Amino acid sequence: METQRAQVLGQARRYLEDLRLFEGSSFIAPSPPAEGLVAPLLAAVQAAPAEDRARALEGFRQEICQCTRCPLGQTRNQFVFGEGDPQAGILFVGEGPGEEEDRQGLPFVGAAGQLLTKIIEAMKLRREQVYICNAVKCRPPGNRTPAPKELAACAPYLERQIELVRPRIICALGKTAAQALLGETASLGALRGRLHQYRGIPVVATYHPAALLRHAEWKRQTWEDVKWLRREFDGTEL
Ligand code: URA
Repeated sequence: METQRAQVLGQARRYLEDLRLFEGSSFIAPSPPAEGLVAPLLAAVQAAPAEDRARALEGFRQEICQCTRCPLGQTRNQFVFGEGDPQAGILFVGEGPGEEEDRQGLPFVGAAGQLLTKIIEAMKLRREQVYICNAVKCRPPGNRTPAPKELAACAPYLERQIELVRPRIICALGKTAAQALLGETASLGALRGRLHQYRGIPVVATYHPAALLRHAEWKRQTWEDVKWLRREFDGTEL
């Protein structure tokens, strides 16, 4: 059984190698994966080394960073793809870039971002160990909530990003991110405290750090949410 598994994994890895060769060549074309190879191929992709995922993420960023699928593409200064460990176990999703993020091209680098960094550190992690992105990649003018059409235009980008990072758990920051990921219209109050799923990945919803800057009284509940998230992630009790 183990030998058979190792053989199939070996085949899957060789297939991926062929694909990589194919990327840089016009004449080595791998045939489609054989029946029975799809699941091990997925396993091999999941076990892909960090450089492969980083390269895939960067390739994807370059592919989409000139996007004009919605009006936000006309008003942004910078496309804010996301950043962090390409193999992160925890992925945070916010709403959309604010002024500072739009200026720097990086997610959560303004006041709300500083609070998010503190939350991550309180979870006994470093910011570089997680992955951070947003439901929309371009700043809505005046920091308004992204429109449903804008969220829908950006949804495939978020989906692909999550597919490439393959986190073990997702934290939705605020109502917009939670609703966008879960396809729900319920309030954040109703979405908090339940373990949801996004394409088979567990999702915890909590308050957006910007909301915590206005409502310090929600910090206690946020702390409960992130303690629970960390426990679900790897059993660590904070
Ligand atoms: N708020 C968000 O939702 N995302 C950011 O990147 C910054 C602020």
